[in-house]
Amino acid sequence: MKTLIKNIGCLQTPTGSYSHKGSKQGVNEKYADAAIAIEDGIIKAITTEGKPVNAFGSLMPDESEFDEIIDAEGNLVTPGLFDGHTHLIFGGYRQHEIAMKLAGADYLDILRAGGGILDTVRKTREATEDELFEKASAFLDEMLDMGITSCEAKSGYGLDPENELKMLRVIRRLGQEHPMDVVPTFMGAHAIPPEYEGRGDEYIEMCCEELMPEVKNQGLAEFADIFCEDSVFNAEQSRRYLEKAAELGFGLKIHADEIEAIGGSQLAGELKAASAEHLIAIEEDGMDSMAEGGTTAMLLPATSFYLGKTFAPAKRMIEKCIPVSIASDFNPGSCPSLNLQFAVNLGCLKYKMTPEEVLTAVTINPACACGRGDLLGTLEPGKQADLVIWNAPDFEMICYRFGSNLAKHVMKKGQMVK
Ligand code: NIG
Ligand code: FE
Repeated sequence: MKTLIKNIGCLQTPTGSYSHKGSKQGVNEKYADAAIAIEDGIIKAITTEGKPVNAFGSLMPDESEFDEIIDAEGNLVTPGLFDGHTHLIFGGYRQHEIAMKLAGADYLDILRAGGGILDTVRKTREATEDELFEKASAFLDEMLDMGITSCEAKSGYGLDPENELKMLRVIRRLGQEHPMDVVPTFMGAHAIPPEYEGRGDEYIEMCCEELMPEVKNQGLAEFADIFCEDSVFNAEQSRRYLEKAAELGFGLKIHADEIEAIGGSQLAGELKAASAEHLIAIEEDGMDSMAEGGTTAMLLPATSFYLGKTFAPAKRMIEKCIPVSIASDFNPGSCPSLNLQFAVNLGCLKYKMTPEEVLTAVTINPACACGRGDLLGTLEPGKQADLVIWNAPDFEMICYRFGSNLAKHVMKKGQMVK
């Protein structure tokens, strides 16, 4: 199957299969009057004004050689967006927390009172595998419709072997049956389950000795993640968990410095984690450690917005040569929105990142932090044809307009899905 996308007013993309940091974070190629040739889901050639985009690119074949021709009508085309941090699988919702918040309770107050994540754990344990699959599959449809063509998805609302494995099987099935690429992360250490109340160390031991090896045996996750936070898991417990994960061959992720800086970002750098997430409260030494360890900052601005917190120091991280990603953090508590376009707006307006830095942060950087940089995250010959034709002439427009879905057409693996 050969497809030509022609009449692209502006094709904007980062390039390469590696994370971009420092001044490279803000470097995108912009090709005017461009066309993309796709064969069997893979980009074969890109031209601008009729010429190949680089010395090694092949010339565009004649239009008559294509099975399908798509007219981009002078619009912007970018790589499909990559949401590098989601809690996509969950039972129920938590709209009742709105009243608690209005009465003054904050995120950790609700969790300490047995609500929050633990409320979702109860509802997730009650749900069947098919129910969780159907619900998450509808979320993936919604994401594709918004121009998000790949995502990461975490377990972490099961918190016992039976239900964590159930969640991970749902994630695997989504990856197999849904057009989206879904990267699976084991997050058994998302909260201390009620059965282990006051016994966090024992729960971590169970994760390390029983659950994580079983996840590995069944090949159900590529990454392991832990919530390193005041009154959740401390830095010592996080070290134990992540060192075991590294020994078993998982890539490492850590929810760090979201509310309190208790050592998570330092640990991330020291263990050369693929990414550290949130980082609202990060301090200079945490950033130094992450820069040294080559750890990507997975920033979640819609969570700052929803929790009424400050915004992570993204520009400082770029200055310190930490690769910056922006993700949704879609989950039923701290960010009940999967709208990564809104996170793009916030990246620009609240983090003060340039549109080019933001595009890198929602394409190649998360693709690399999730082990998919070779195939996804940029528009170049050899990469998978995952792209968005926007209802916009340039990426500034996507940063500027908010609240509307500006994805006009979406292509996944060479197929038009919108
Ligand atoms: O990344 N901070 C921890 N975990 C999620 C929230 C999960 C929830 O509240 O259900 C987060 O924000
Ligand atoms: Fe999260």
